[in-house]
Amino acid sequence: MDPLHPACEPLNLLIGTWRGEGHGDYPTIDPFDYLEEVTFGHIGKPFLTYSQKTRHRDTNQPLHAEFGYWRPMTDGTLEVILAHPTGIAETIEGTLSLSENGKLLIKLTTTHIGLTATAKEVTQVARTITATPEILNYTLDMAAVDHPLQRHLEATLIKADEFQS
Ligand code: HEM
Repeated sequence: MDPLHPACEPLNLLIGTWRGEGHGDYPTIDPFDYLEEVTFGHIGKPFLTYSQKTRHRDTNQPLHAEFGYWRPMTDGTLEVILAHPTGIAETIEGTLSLSENGKLLIKLTTTHIGLTATAKEVTQVARTITATPEILNYTLDMAAVDHPLQRHLEATLIKADEFQS
């Protein structure tokens, strides 16, 4: 395996596969619970690879998925680009910080959202992630379909596997 690029060192604890459960809601939809698997990997370059997939907790039906790249900068900022199967392309940027007890905090807000001709209207996304080597929690707020920024998702994931290149 290629050594981790030094720029990715602050995100080192994310690398591997995480599994867990989340809850979703929005004013226009029925609330739902979901199972999620997230994998962060690397190829020795100054970004992490990212993939995510979800299933409905009760029906096991596939729900949302995402692919992308996480690009940490040397000044503590973080750039993320994500592709969604719903016709949405998200560039989301913000900050990362590591507390003295080793907890990672990431706050991201969208800088651009690209929508295909038939995608639902999403105008803003805000993501907050906190992680230790064992537990990752996140929230995702969005402004969409004429509703202001508010909670769509929150989840707790557990580190399940180390990364294999
Ligand atoms: C864990 C990830 C996610 C899961 C499990 C999830 C799940 C769902 C579900 C079950 C619905 C309702 C049924 C449907 O329209 O398919 C929905 C609606 C929606 N989601 Fe998500 N979603 C996720 C992430 C996202 C993200 C990242 C965005 C935006 C970038 C997003 C935007 C939307 C929109 C715009 C709707 C439609 C609301 C409406 O039609 O009124 N979702 N989501």
